[in-house]
Amino acid sequence: MITLEHVSKTFTSHGQTVTAVDDVSLEVGEGELHVLIGPSGSGKTTTMRMINCLETPTGGRITVDGRDVQTMNVVDLRRGIGYVIQQGGLFPHFTVADNVAVVPRLLGWPRQKRRQRAEELLALVGLPPELFADRYPRQLSGGQQQRVGVARALAADPPIVLMDEPFGAVDPITRKQLQRELRRIQAEVRKTIVFVTHDIAEAFLLGDRIVLMAEGRIVQNATPADLLRNPADPFVTSFIGEDRGLRSLRFTSLAELAGPAPPGARPNGMILPGTLSILDAGRELAAHRDAAGDGIWVGDTTGQPIGYLTFQQFATVLGESLGDDAETPHDETAHAIHH
Ligand SMILES: Nc1ncnc2c1ncn2[C@@H]1O[C@H](COP(=O)(O)OP(=O)(O)OP(=O)(O)O)[C@@H](O)[C@H]1O
Ligand SMILES: [Mg+2]
Repeated sequence: MITLEHVSKTFTSHGQTVTAVDDVSLEVGEGELHVLIGPSGSGKTTTMRMINCLETPTGGRITVDGRDVQTMNVVDLRRGIGYVIQQGGLFPHFTVADNVAVVPRLLGWPRQKRRQRAEELLALVGLPPELFADRYPRQLSGGQQQRVGVARALAADPPIVLMDEPFGAVDPITRKQLQRELRRIQAEVRKTIVFVTHDIAEAFLLGDRIVLMAEGRIVQNATPADLLRNPADPFVTSFIGEDRGLRSLRFTSLAELAGPAPPGARPNGMILPGTLSILDAGRELAAHRDAAGDGIWVGDTTGQPIGYLTFQQFATVLGESLGDDAETPHDETAHAIHH
């Protein structure tokens, strides 16, 4: 659905050249959610902006649905792409409902239908329309404004959605709700989504693939499960292995999560005791990167298999638990990733 082939972007200002994006190649399949994660300044926003032609690449090629974006009519292109920008970006003189309905209005939807759609989406992102629809953006908190931004991006039901830290200014509990909501929407309607975050838990929770960026380049592009098994970058390893007060991970055992083995799952020499905590299992996994297969066998005290857990399930649970830990402030996570 979206491809980047050797895409680069350099900015020149005051005689200085900054390489914001450096030879990035990426392929986002239809209905997939790819997370871009990396330190501040690593080129995530610039990459997003090139996809919907807000920036022009200085090298390489970007296609959407098989067509080179450079040759497309910008209005047509953006009609098919919802964009949640990093800093809200609402129109201050429009009500919340009118902000949500900006694209439907451009598309000429009748007033009644626009209003109905705006109310539906506000409810979806947890802003009861009877309270919020007729307010102005300045009468909303930062997190509420961000949610309006998410509703706006979904309003015209575009096949592609670009989301630049959409939940960055939202408190941990609401954030969690929104993540769940996004996952539910995604399971239902399968948008093609590029999602930027600083939060590795969010990345594990939402991503079909996680693309780690640093200094304009892709350091690793992998499924959450492969990232866990085979982390290319030290910050992933340290994040998984270190103690950050992840109590819920320490108190959830593998046995609680294991299910029946799927047909065709084979013994792969990796069997972990069911009493092991998720946190310790994460360490074990990091130490056994070459373990074959798609998951972990879970055993009883005598080593007899009692269940099975796919790496994908493991990654999702890890993401959930990390997100659950209200004691881990978001800033701390951000700090860890910013090195
Ligand atoms: N218009 C511009 N002119 C000059 N330099 C720019 C411009 N836009 C971005 N840059 C530079 O390009 C680099 C990448 O910026 P970008 O906004 O893509 O980073 P990011 O990964 O989104 O960071 P953050 O996590 O802080 O949002 C930075 O060094 C930034 O200063
Ligand atoms: Mg950014």
